[in-house]
Amino acid sequence: MFPITRRHFLCASAAGLASSPICGDEPVRDREVKKELPNPKAVKEDAAFQPATLFLTWHTDPTTTMDIQWVGVRGETADTTVYYTPTALTVLAQTFPWRAEKSVARPYPQSDFKVFRAELTGLLPGADYTFKIGKQSPAYRFRTMPAKSTDAISFISGGDCGVNTAALANNAQAARQDPMFAIVGGDLGYDNGRSVETSLAFLKNYSRTMVGRDGRLIPMIVAIGNHEVDGGYAKPRSKATFFYPLFDGLYPETGYATLDFGDYLSLVLLDTGHTSPIDGDQTRWLEKTLKAREDHPNVFVINHVPAYPSFRNPQPAEVKGAATAKPGTGELQRKNWVPLFDKYRVPVVLEHHDHTFKRTKPLLDGLPHENGVLYLGDGSWGRLRNPKKADPLHVMAKTSDEYHLSLHRIQGEERFHLAMDKDGRVMDVARTGQRKKGAMSVGG
Ligand SMILES: [Fe+2]
Ligand SMILES: [Fe+2]
Repeated sequence: MFPITRRHFLCASAAGLASSPICGDEPVRDREVKKELPNPKAVKEDAAFQPATLFLTWHTDPTTTMDIQWVGVRGETADTTVYYTPTALTVLAQTFPWRAEKSVARPYPQSDFKVFRAELTGLLPGADYTFKIGKQSPAYRFRTMPAKSTDAISFISGGDCGVNTAALANNAQAARQDPMFAIVGGDLGYDNGRSVETSLAFLKNYSRTMVGRDGRLIPMIVAIGNHEVDGGYAKPRSKATFFYPLFDGLYPETGYATLDFGDYLSLVLLDTGHTSPIDGDQTRWLEKTLKAREDHPNVFVINHVPAYPSFRNPQPAEVKGAATAKPGTGELQRKNWVPLFDKYRVPVVLEHHDHTFKRTKPLLDGLPHENGVLYLGDGSWGRLRNPKKADPLHVMAKTSDEYHLSLHRIQGEERFHLAMDKDGRVMDVARTGQRKKGAMSVGG
């Protein structure tokens, strides 16, 4: 038996975005099928189709592409083709007719659902688009990223969301900033690779709340965390039960990937040992990847488990009765990745997993240095812990036990990183520029 039935899902989808309940602490299955929802037999094939899990993401250059995705069942709408046209040019419909892209349906494990994905390519950069699913869905909107960073580029990052009310409050706060996109650096819904309900609840919350001021859907870029994986660490891809079916566009073979925005922004998204080991292939790939982007102006690294944790212990700890000490949190990253961040001029690393706010001092080889790398984190979109006061590595500039998001703004050669709490209060502001060359040789 599947934990959510086809009828259940059809009902939830047909209820639409506007009337679907916010997915909070209460288990999803207890709340969803309510009296006002229609009998699925009454859902006509040409009825308005509003999938409650609709979201946008990317797997290739965001200046000219968009991936439109939702989770649904075959047959709930007659036509799953995505029709789209540049919004501002619709008055010239004769010269800019609607284009069509068929969606592809792939299995969504532990359910009879499918992940539908339409990959739109050849889009105009920096343009507003209107799209529909089939001919009868409402008109939705998206915006491609600009070809150049002439105007400011802004985006949100955070991690460790869950599906509780704090996560929803932060979603609303994030959307209020009208960011061009949002990065979620692992631990999305806390489905643990086992709960299809939680995976769907996360998508529904995101879909419902992450909408920009003008009705534009805000694309989501994700990295993998331990709570995407049944068992958390050192598992095969199949244990990231829902993550890869949703995001294998960006991650077709490994848990790490890059996303390059024209020539002005590169996101390097890493797998902190959940389905890809930190050392070996991933570290070799990281060196090649960073070297190729050494002169790029804005390289952001995103990982889940922090190299410089604010809550967990970074140092090895003796375990009673065990022959070897328990490695410190981030030890492998500090050994394998930090020398590469130092060498290849990475300015900012976005970290998560510890459920706090933290900003380190700029660091080079683990020591404060004006030409160093800034580590920002630590993942408290919807989960909280008290940061440790001890700071045994002496790296922290600021920590806090509040829910937060980071708003990043790239403006010319400067970057601003603003941390805000769920009420929009500014908690911290940091500024970075391009780091100087020749800071450090690997192993030096
Ligand atoms: Fe977490
Ligand atoms: Fe985590």
